Amino acid sequence: MARMAAQNRGKNKKALVETYGCQANVNDSQRLMGMLLEMGYTLTSEREEADVILFNTCAVRDGAEQRVFGNLGALKNIAEKRGTLIGVCGCMAQQSAVAQRIRTRYRFVDLVFGTHAQGKFPILLEEALTTKERVCDISENTEIAEGVPTYYGGGAKAFVSIMYGCDNFCSYCIVPYVRGRERSRREEDILAEICALTQSGVKEIMLLGQNVNSYGNDFGEKDAFSRLLRRVSEVEGLERIRFMSSHPKDLSFTLLETMAQYSNIPHQLHLPLQSGSNKVLKDMNRRYSRERYLEIVEYARSLMPDLALTTDIIVGFPTETEEDFLQTCDMLERIRCDSIFSFIYSPRQGTAAAKMENVSTKEEQAERFKRMLELQNTISLDINRSFVGKVQRVLTEGVSKTDAAMLTGRNEANKIVNFPGSEDLKDKFVDVKITRAQTWVLQGELI
Ligand code: 5AD
Ligand code: SF4
Repeated sequence: MARMAAQNRGKNKKALVETYGCQANVNDSQRLMGMLLEMGYTLTSEREEADVILFNTCAVRDGAEQRVFGNLGALKNIAEKRGTLIGVCGCMAQQSAVAQRIRTRYRFVDLVFGTHAQGKFPILLEEALTTKERVCDISENTEIAEGVPTYYGGGAKAFVSIMYGCDNFCSYCIVPYVRGRERSRREEDILAEICALTQSGVKEIMLLGQNVNSYGNDFGEKDAFSRLLRRVSEVEGLERIRFMSSHPKDLSFTLLETMAQYSNIPHQLHLPLQSGSNKVLKDMNRRYSRERYLEIVEYARSLMPDLALTTDIIVGFPTETEEDFLQTCDMLERIRCDSIFSFIYSPRQGTAAAKMENVSTKEEQAERFKRMLELQNTISLDINRSFVGKVQRVLTEGVSKTDAAMLTGRNEANKIVNFPGSEDLKDKFVDVKITRAQTWVLQGELI
């Protein structure tokens, strides 16, 4: 097998993978780390002691790209002083204009490869190390690399990608261009991975896809995701199954019924709305209406009254007027999300929206963004307050980063819960009574 070519290459050497962006990237980095371990490297979190530094990058907004360029600039000294091999991969690298910019302006970068070449990483690394030439591979390849070793880090939670790419071409979004066409993994491969994880102590799985509701469409199957979810729920010893992201245009009511039926699927749904205005939704090429979105939420809550809902919102899409924005606020008041992920629109070169004229100014966008957060914070706090006095089943993740006496974990709704306790509870389920609610976290005590 091609991957074997580079075995032992990393003996007595250290490697660092820095991840930018979403859960899919975190999971990709786990595969990159798995391959590095297979090559004999040990992993480090210190740039100064690494022999190989790999940046796995995100292209979804300009801010993400600027952060990568900034951090990359800071590697120049290390690379020159220590001879560290520097690699840039992932979504930014897959865009030829960006790959070109890295090659001309960041000449100390030895290796550039896109999302499609990920499975070839050991060969590319070997080539860069042996030839001492700069290596670049941003070719396209739709094959799924199965059997890549994955470094999960040993906790009780794990991500499992069930599909790659996206076919939806929302007009603002770069993902279909940098991750390619949608392709689903075979059900058997997914189940085998999940069984192995469960046997090694994993209790919670997050199934990942850009639009999990169209899982299996490329095999010509309808609603294959509900079936997959049922089969995953039946895996012995698996206590929680979450999934993201859903797309309102493809979400089936069978899926909601499955969620309601299986006790190890939390009543928690991430359902990106993006905008509450039908006109903007149309311009975004989202292919659902606010009415359809409301219908989904209404049916979900009729089956699961305790449903925790989260969403993504883009503020300041080129055609968004004040009126459209007010429609989004109106939707947020109606659907009452537990929390939202909101973003100011960022034009991405090559997408359809990047050619549209802006009807509002940057100041208006920023002001709307602020107004929306204020509205949502009130809703989030209000919902969180309703948890006070209730007992929550929490999967402990470990000691809180801000307070060593506190443990942190997540309840069924995926809310952060902090409580005093000893470190040996890490990776265990505990019952916590909520004593105080804040906008982003719940505080409680063990019972
Ligand atoms: N500008 C701002 N936000 C974006 N997203 C995707 N593309 C853009 C963009 N060009 C947001 C969407 C998506 C989330 C992952 O990122 O809300 O759901
Ligand atoms: Fe981007 Fe739309 Fe695909 Fe999500 S569904 S990744 S927003 S194109």
